Amino acid sequence: MDGNGRWAKKRFLPRAAGHKRGVEAVRDAVKACIERGIDYLTLFAFSSENWRRPQEEVSLLMNLFLHALENEVSRLHEAGVRLRIVGDLARFDDKLVSLIRAAEQRTAGNQRLTLTIAANYGGRWDIMQALNTLLVEQPEKRGGYDEADLSPYLSMAYAPEPDLFIRTGGEQRVSNFLLWQLAYTEFYFTDLLWPDFNAAALDEAIRSYQGRERRFGRTSEQLQATPSLDAQTADGVALGKVRRVSG
Ligand code: IPE
Ligand code: MG
Repeated sequence: MDGNGRWAKKRFLPRAAGHKRGVEAVRDAVKACIERGIDYLTLFAFSSENWRRPQEEVSLLMNLFLHALENEVSRLHEAGVRLRIVGDLARFDDKLVSLIRAAEQRTAGNQRLTLTIAANYGGRWDIMQALNTLLVEQPEKRGGYDEADLSPYLSMAYAPEPDLFIRTGGEQRVSNFLLWQLAYTEFYFTDLLWPDFNAAALDEAIRSYQGRERRFGRTSEQLQATPSLDAQTADGVALGKVRRVSG
């Protein structure tokens, strides 16, 4: 979710105003995903690199996060949303961490949409924490691990790999998001600033996705000869329409 600051600047408003509108855009995106039957939405809210921002902005973002947890969780719960937070929570204060845990527990049984917020998250951090846990839990296999050994320890092991990655704000880079899981994800970049990203913009991203051929290393001819291959993702899950969106 990129572009809150520029959205505010264009209107001669403080960056804080952009972040507040960004929260509203999150609310709309969640609603739009539910309406479209999307099963997983993962939002990159705060990266491990965002601590480098001015202290004032970091505090503001933390407060917004805190307020969102206090004010939005009941609504999310009623809408059938399962909320998960991924990232290194060690740097967050205790109050925030207990709100996060409580919200996760409260919504754990919901099935309509799994909403993951990546906070103090970094793709490299995730791979390293998974590797360290694997080494502690299965030391005997050292030197012989494969991909299937590592993936259960990644912080989003509960979710399938994303079908579609959306980045707003005109930048075309991954910025240390879900590095491992994005291996076969379709990428979509838009110049829209995050506060301007709405249901129509989501539909445009989905339309772009639907026009693509996902080959997972195979050739186009193979897919045409065996239509069932067309419905295989990298992890073997059948895919009729977009079910998982990350942005
Ligand atoms: C929001 O957009 C992303 C967050 C880290 C919360 P930015 O704050 O990066 O907005 P720009 O890039 O300055 O416009
Ligand atoms: Mg930015």
